Amino acid sequence: MKTKISSITGNNFGEFWFLVEKFYHPKYYSKEYPNLLTSFLNRLGAKNVLDAACGIGFPAMEIVNRGFDLTCSDGNESMLGIFKLLAKEKGVDIPIIHSKWKDLNSILETKFDVVLCLDSSITHVDSWGDSKKLNTDNARKDILKSLKAFYALLKPGGYVVIGLGRYAFEKGNEFSIDFGTLEIESVLVRHKWKMKFDHGLKKRIWTLITEFNGKINVREFQSYLLYPDELESLLKESGFGKVEIQEIQPGEYDNNFVAKK
Ligand SMILES: C[S@@+](CC[C@H](N)C(=O)[O-])C[C@H]1O[C@@H](n2cnc3c(N)ncnc32)[C@H](O)[C@@H]1O
Repeated sequence: MKTKISSITGNNFGEFWFLVEKFYHPKYYSKEYPNLLTSFLNRLGAKNVLDAACGIGFPAMEIVNRGFDLTCSDGNESMLGIFKLLAKEKGVDIPIIHSKWKDLNSILETKFDVVLCLDSSITHVDSWGDSKKLNTDNARKDILKSLKAFYALLKPGGYVVIGLGRYAFEKGNEFSIDFGTLEIESVLVRHKWKMKFDHGLKKRIWTLITEFNGKINVREFQSYLLYPDELESLLKESGFGKVEIQEIQPGEYDNNFVAKK
């Protein structure tokens, strides 16, 4: 699939994500993580797997042909548009469903061994790619409804796996990352982040600064600042029993909350 640098300043967040993900996925993450995730799913005895936050298809696309019966879903059409193009390009046949988490159990009849919601996706509940101010009360309620839907989608004894960025464990106030410059389709793209945590309002404010051949594009998004202890209690409120934290991948990415039905 060709990246459309020209559309980056437009409203298609899927295209924007396709481009900026190139900055976020160093080799060890894009290559090793699918292997680690595969071993982890095998340890859980997973066959029927739902990736409920598949986005544009990472890591789903990497694990689809590794012996799992994988279904993918996401609530954002522009993300799924890119996923479908990439799947077609790679000749991968995979069910891709457009649905919000809270509605998934009324759409899908299948029950799964494992439901994945990785990549800190849960904190972006209903606010992904949306620059409006976040209503944190609604976000919290929707996280709970989503976890209840995941519970309903599991077989008895099945597992939900919720990824939560490690920064949420540190409770700092802000950090920045300069991802440097990449040449993409002969265009020099520079990308930086600023991440601020408002612990009073329970908001994470994420500013993405992208420079295309010197022209700056700034986007700011808000997501729910979900603490690990709050996630654990929401999982229990949704019906899950024991909750464990497991490291699937190394480095600065997620800690994963694994809860059994
Ligand atoms: C961090 S991104 C996941 C990116 C994905 N791992 C990828 O590489 O493309 C978070 C995803 O959660 C999805 N999402 C947020 N709220 C949702 C909801 N209520 N229901 C379903 N999907 C939702 C977004 O649309 C987005 O694709």
